[in-house]
Amino acid sequence: MEQIRRYADDHAREVFSRLPKGRVGENDRKYMNEVLDAGFGNSDRSDMNVRFEKALAKKFSAHYAVTCSNGTVSLHACLLAAGVGPGDEVLVPCLTAVATATAVLYCYAVPVFVDILGDTFLMDPQDARRKVTAHTKAIIPVSLYGLACDMDPIMDLAKEYGLTVIEDNAQCYLGTYKGRPVGSIGHAASYSFQGSKHMTTGGDGGAVTCNDRDYMRKIKRVMGFGYPTIEAESDAPRTVPRDIRQDWNFKRHPTFGYNFRMPVTSAALGLAQLERLEDLVEARRIIAGLYEEVSAAVPWLIRQHVPDGYGHTWWAYVCRVDEQLLGQDWRTFRKKFIEFGGDGLYSAWCPIHLEPTFAQMNFYGDAYRAPHFHHLYKGTVKNYSRGDCPVCERIQPTLAQFKTSFQDYDIALRQAEALKHTIDYFS
Ligand SMILES: Cc1ncc(COP(=O)(O)O)c(C=O)c1O
Repeated sequence: MEQIRRYADDHAREVFSRLPKGRVGENDRKYMNEVLDAGFGNSDRSDMNVRFEKALAKKFSAHYAVTCSNGTVSLHACLLAAGVGPGDEVLVPCLTAVATATAVLYCYAVPVFVDILGDTFLMDPQDARRKVTAHTKAIIPVSLYGLACDMDPIMDLAKEYGLTVIEDNAQCYLGTYKGRPVGSIGHAASYSFQGSKHMTTGGDGGAVTCNDRDYMRKIKRVMGFGYPTIEAESDAPRTVPRDIRQDWNFKRHPTFGYNFRMPVTSAALGLAQLERLEDLVEARRIIAGLYEEVSAAVPWLIRQHVPDGYGHTWWAYVCRVDEQLLGQDWRTFRKKFIEFGGDGLYSAWCPIHLEPTFAQMNFYGDAYRAPHFHHLYKGTVKNYSRGDCPVCERIQPTLAQFKTSFQDYDIALRQAEALKHTIDYFS
């Protein structure tokens, strides 16, 4: 306890004092009021979305940014814009939120699950290399828990095979990889503003950043019914003259698209949250530091390895519980943590290929309607089963995710204390 108290320094208190109660601050209200005061026209383009997109691009060191309704459609649009469709395979890690894989299925393509590394719990680039085939079209490295994948070998692989790399950064904001901003390395980067994330747009929301003008134009057109008036730049003037676009003979849909747009009210909240993103990330770093403080020397609690040169952003603090060394199983550890006042010790996701909908290929009713049996698909992935990703299958039941999302420093301290009591109890 003494040890933790010492960490309760002025810096931590100061950062937390800047986080508004309920995650709603002055500017959240101000921008929301601006939107309400302006009223709602009948255009799908709003000034608030443009402001949010420009601020996003700047913050994430990208040329272009687009907002959308969530972090699943952002992946979906990036895949479609990369030409992913029936007959294609996409490499995704087996340990991630299900959205990373379902986005591939929404394109009627085949997700191929890549195993994780035993220390970082992130996509294993060597397994990705083993699983790439002539049918692979794209790869989605996921910066799980806020830590970047080893991007250099992934980018090398992509270059060699002509793959599109879409970074799934739903859990990683302002992370770094060897001095570079996470999100600036692949061909596009996807973000989620769902409630559990570092910043939120009031429940759901998402965005894509990208440096390639043509690719961004395609992504945005997928998100907006394929309208030919959509450009990569957020504030691009309409390129089609009024007399042409209002004419009865004007064709609005040269390409296929969806409606993935973000509501203007969400954009207002997003802009305000983005302005304090540094504090939001720093608060999670501080909380991860508290857990680290009490667990670093414990041999049976092995935290996610952070390689040198990586800037972690701690969407969660994750450890592997070595049940043999502890002499207890994961469930006993979790139960004790809760008894000592711990909250929210979650397991990691079930490896996706073992989730019933995947193991039973139950995507479109009958398994034979899956993209894996489409006549254009010439690959060999016809089912998913145990053994596809042995490292993840072995490690996942021992992973413990501790929450870093507390907005109150004293609550965070109590969580670290609960962990300390648990450790002391078993030591
Ligand atoms: C790694 C990852 N990818 C994608 C998503 C999907 O984002 P959303 O919930 O905004 O659709 C999430 C969030 O749930 C996620 O954690």
